[in-house]
Amino acid sequence: MSYDEFYIKSVVRAIPDWPEAGVIFRDVTPVFKDPRAMRMVCDAFIQRYMRTGITHIASVDARGFLLGSVVAYQLNLPLVLIRKKGKLPGTTLSREYQLEYGKAAIEMQTDALEPGNRVVIFDDLIATGGTLLAAISLIHELGAEVEEVAALIDLPDLEGSQRIQDSGIPVHALLAYE
Ligand code: PRP
Ligand code: HPA
Repeated sequence: MSYDEFYIKSVVRAIPDWPEAGVIFRDVTPVFKDPRAMRMVCDAFIQRYMRTGITHIASVDARGFLLGSVVAYQLNLPLVLIRKKGKLPGTTLSREYQLEYGKAAIEMQTDALEPGNRVVIFDDLIATGGTLLAAISLIHELGAEVEEVAALIDLPDLEGSQRIQDSGIPVHALLAYE
């Protein structure tokens, strides 16, 4: 099955004024519900990261898990979780960040990664970039390298992907919505 950006774009749903007035929410749940779209998306990522020397896939709670876990399974790589605050047992590191709407914190277990590890971080969508910048900071604190950030969707008007790139980390997003 060949990759078809127009097909995937036709599956992502735009929900105006959600969760608040003025926001056009890009809803990726129809992609997870559509095996053809899901396979195209995951296969595109799998091909990109095959035989690249990446040692770990990190994925962001919650929708990032759904992409990162498929890619990790198919590439036979370890999957490490970046979770919302208070969900992970054991010793954890935490980072607060601003969301497009609101404030939150994410955490990783301190034994998730170690120096020498080369990581790609998966999330479904980049808006302000706050979540992924916090994730990058956690991974760096554990001594590992972030090779790239991977997302299904970038919202470039919110400048998150630019902020991530300005911090020195490459960004790979399959779709952009201006
Ligand atoms: C959404 C999305 C990204 C983040 C993007 O997650 O899945 O993780 O926001 O926004 P940012 O670039 O401005 O940080 P959300 O916290 O809504 O969590 P969910 O995946 O659990 O729904
Ligand atoms: N869609 C999905 N998740 C999001 C969005 C969006 O438009 N903005 C921030 N997180």
